[in-house]
Formats: sequence, C-alpha cells, structure tokens
Amino acid sequence: MIENNKSGMKKSRLKYGMVGGGAGAFIGEVHRKAIALDGKAELAAGVFSRDYQNTINTGESLNIDRSRLYQTYEEMAETEANHENGIDFISIVTPNNTHFPIAKTFLGKGIHVVCDKPLTVNSQEAEELKKLTEAKDLLFCVTYTYTGYPMVKHLREMIKNGVLGELRVVNAEYPQDWLAAPLEKTGQKQSAWRTDPSQSGKSNCVGDIGSHIENMVSYLTGLKIDSLCARLDTFVEGRVLDDNATIMVNYDSGARGLYWSSQVAVGHDNGLRVRIYGAKASAEWSQENPNYLRISYLDKPTEIISRGRDKLYPHAQGYSRIPPGHPEGYFEAFANIYATFINALNKKRSGVALAAEGLDFPKVEEGIRGVRFIEKCVESSERGAAWVNF
Ligand SMILES: NC(=O)c1ccc[n+]([C@@H]2O[C@H](COP(=O)([O-])OP(=O)(O)OC[C@H]3O[C@@H](n4cnc5c(N)ncnc54)[C@H](O)[C@@H]3O)[C@@H](O)[C@H]2O)c1
Repeated sequence: MIENNKSGMKKSRLKYGMVGGGAGAFIGEVHRKAIALDGKAELAAGVFSRDYQNTINTGESLNIDRSRLYQTYEEMAETEANHENGIDFISIVTPNNTHFPIAKTFLGKGIHVVCDKPLTVNSQEAEELKKLTEAKDLLFCVTYTYTGYPMVKHLREMIKNGVLGELRVVNAEYPQDWLAAPLEKTGQKQSAWRTDPSQSGKSNCVGDIGSHIENMVSYLTGLKIDSLCARLDTFVEGRVLDDNATIMVNYDSGARGLYWSSQVAVGHDNGLRVRIYGAKASAEWSQENPNYLRISYLDKPTEIISRGRDKLYPHAQGYSRIPPGHPEGYFEAFANIYATFINALNKKRSGVALAAEGLDFPKVEEGIRGVRFIEKCVESSERGAAWVNF
C-alpha cells in the first residue's frame, strides 16, 4: 500500500541522483517521471552519460544546479556524500555491466541504492552488493517493474490465501519482436549493448526479459526453483548472444513451469503474460492489459476482476490510483515501486520500524536470484539443455 507520511516522520522531500538516463537513453526518463508522479523525491544530481556534454544538456533541461552535474559517478558519490544537502539515494539506469561498480561506489559512501535489473553480470558481484548493503545498513531496491501493478499484488494475495488451491503448473512468456532483424548493426544504442556480452553479460534475451518472468512468477507464487532445463537460441545471423529461450522449471513443491522469452517473436511488443494453474482455479494476467485479472474456477463461472471496480485486497487496493476504465500502466507500476521504497526510506531515517508490507519492493535478494537464474539458464543451455540444480 502506498502510505502517506505519518506524524513523527521527516516530511522533507528526499533528494536523489541518477547515473545514466541522458538524452537518447530509454529507461532513465521513465524512472524520473515515475518518481515525479508522487512528488516525494526530487532529482538533485546526476551523471546522465559518459559524455559530459550530454550530462550538462540533460541536467539543465531538468533544472539541476550545474554544480551538481558531475563528470563521473565516482566524483558524484564522493561529493554528494559530503554535501550538506547531499542525495539520499541513487538511481542506476545504465547498461548491465556497470551496475556493480556504480552500486558498490554509492553503497560505500553510505548512499541508498535503486538499481535496474539485472542486478549484475555475475552472482559474486550480486552477493558482494548484498554484503555491503547489510554492512552499511542501507536499503537496496531492484526495479523489476511489473510487480508494481495492483492486479499482480492482488493475485499474489489470492494465491497466498489458497484461492487457486495447490499450485500445479505455471506457464509464463515474454515475447517481443524488436530484435527480429539485426537492429544492432544499424547503431541503435539499446540493441547494440544488449547484444554485446561485454556490456550485457552472459545472456541477452534471458537477461533482459526472461529475468522479468523469473521475478514475476516468484513474486506471485512464492514457488522456489529446484532445477531447470534451458535451451537458448540465436536466430539472427552474426549475433553472439541469445535472442530466444525456452526454459522448463521444476519447483521444490513438485509444481512445474514452462517459460518462454523471445525478442524475435514477430507481432509481439511487450507480451509478458503469466498463467498459473492450481487444483481449484487458474489465473491469467498480462502486462499489456494490466488492469484486469482472469480467474477460472473448476466449479463456478470465470471471473474478470477489474482494477478500480472490484474489491481488491486492501494492500493491492492501496496501489490503485484512479477510477476503473482509466487505464493505469507502466509509469504507475514504476511509481508504485518507488513510492514504497521512498516511504521505507523515510521511515528508516525517522527510526520508524519497517513492517513487511512497507517493504514490498524488489530488494537485493531478488536481484541475486535473478542473476543466478540467468547463469543457470546459460549453464544448462551450454550443456545441451541439461537439467541443472538451481
Ligand atoms: N525495469 C525495466 O522494465 C527495464 C526496462 C528497460 C531497461 N531496463 C534496464 O535499465 C538499464 C538501462 O537500459 P536502457 O535501455 O535505458 O539503456 P540505454 O542505453 O538507453 O541507456 C543507458 C544510459 O546509461 C549511460 N551510461 C552508460 N555508462 C555510464 C556511466 N559509466 N556513467 C554515466 N552514464 C552511463 C548511457 O550514456 C545512457 O544514457 C539496463 O540495465 C536495462 O536492463 C530495465
């Protein structure tokens, strides 16, 4: 639930910095707009690009004081940590291989971190970030966007409350088609780094979107992966990393899963869809139609639950912002993650205890699990789609 500031808590707006998100970048601007939706934190500093002129242009267009536009993130961390009005948290929206050094630098200076996924390019780095977060007693959020949707939170609670019965089968997919042709050869920036192992890590498709499936299923169901069998394919000639993946999953409860992520699925934009089958009922949610949830029962008619119209569990309801029929989407989901993180940070600063509901944002542990998932998929595929323990 998105909470308002309670009495006794510091009410000043938090200040944040950003690394990445300069002119021409994709997700940084989404982060900034999502944070601005609730107005509880203001952008005060940045290194928006490796190119300082881009940082200056972007920073000036965002009304940031020139003295807080830095050439490097190291300089920003050092200066902001010692600034009387320094940033409270940093938002990291750069390519995957840079997440670790940047997050480590800010944690080292005692600054809370929000980092986009995948957390790092290997588990050792991810574990190191967890250790540092704990040693410094800081908050760490990994922006797995899609768990911010109210209907996802509602379904999660339905599953927890046994509405679906014992879970048997999960079928989840994330098809896209933007890499169906060799876009990276045209100089398009987002495709160029994602298909380059030195920046993306060991996987492109699983790392970029398969990791969202893993996080979503885990968040919704609480199922723990026991072993998996993955086949990663590269369809576009000249590409080194995967652009399609099929993954079978055994959960330790005995339930079974099948995941498909693809960037060459012509006709699909951002088709993240999850179907979960229990002994009593099944559920289906799709991120391209996120305000509705379909529940089918063994012994009664199918329900379509509508955000804003139908009664949701109070926690999920607390994330719904506008009346039914006015679609809420990607920005709101992102804003919900930030709102929860920022409220938690305000409470922490005020010495108010953090309850589980107030910590309902993806943390460093989810980031570690996501990186492990990518590594295990690559390992399985390299061994000829062998089953590997998780
Ligand atoms: N949560 C989501 O739904 C979601 C969606 C898209 C991207 N992402 C993740 O966000 C990250 C960025 O993706 P993108 O598509 O926005 O990439 P992008 O290429 O559009 O933007 C990356 C930005 O980082 C900057 N940058 C790179 N190294 C830097 C450095 N050392 N210092 C300062 N700036 C630096 C670049 O100049 C650019 O502005 C990736 O990790 C990606 O996986 C997450």
